[in-house]
Amino acid sequence: MRKTVSAEALDQIFRSARTYNGWTDTPVEERVVRQLYDLLKWGPTSGNSSPARFVWVRSPEGKAKLAGLAAEKNQPKILEAPLTVIIGNDVGFADALPKLMPHNTEATQKAFAAPGVSEVTAMRNGSLQGAYLIIAARALGLDCGPMSGFDNAGVDRAFFAGSQIQSNFICSIGNGDPASVFPRNPRLSFAEAGHFD
Ligand SMILES: Cc1cc2nc3c(=O)[nH]c(=O)nc-3n(C[C@H](O)[C@H](O)[C@H](O)COP(=O)(O)O)c2cc1C
Repeated sequence: MRKTVSAEALDQIFRSARTYNGWTDTPVEERVVRQLYDLLKWGPTSGNSSPARFVWVRSPEGKAKLAGLAAEKNQPKILEAPLTVIIGNDVGFADALPKLMPHNTEATQKAFAAPGVSEVTAMRNGSLQGAYLIIAARALGLDCGPMSGFDNAGVDRAFFAGSQIQSNFICSIGNGDPASVFPRNPRLSFAEAGHFD
């Protein structure tokens, strides 16, 4: 049986990890962004559909464009961060199945082709991949600030024009300013959140 990862790792990824609202100037190197993707891509998705698509916004122009489409209180959280990633769901993800599911492409494409199925599949698995991104970033020692307060249709027009990709949420990534975290709110207890059956 595999070992539990260290208590230190669990603290870093879950127990002590916080949502950051402000950022230091420390940049996130491209090498680290690629390392981050090369971890998160291994998280499971249904039929290996891998529908999430990522725009790693780091240029001043890109940040200004994204911040201009965000809720006012979220704008500085984009402009100050070294990097904000847009996590989108590609509703046309089935086109990549010859690569992703080579031994069973046709049957998998057929299963996802029923009305409404590709949208639900893209949202379910794209959201999972967004969560894998947060976990992987924390495992690499980065901090995260996820946000859904922005104009999705506007972001789709500005960043995903001519594609079937729909923005899901955005996440600033970098070295968070500890002074920027809000007071920690409680979580539901085991019994409040579920039960054995
Ligand atoms: C998908 C998602 C969307 C969020 N949207 C926003 C947002 O638009 N603005 C914001 O300030 N915080 C946003 N948050 C931050 C949450 O409020 C925060 O992660 C949560 O309260 C837990 O905080 P903690 O990690 O510090 O305990 C979002 C978080 C997630 C995961």
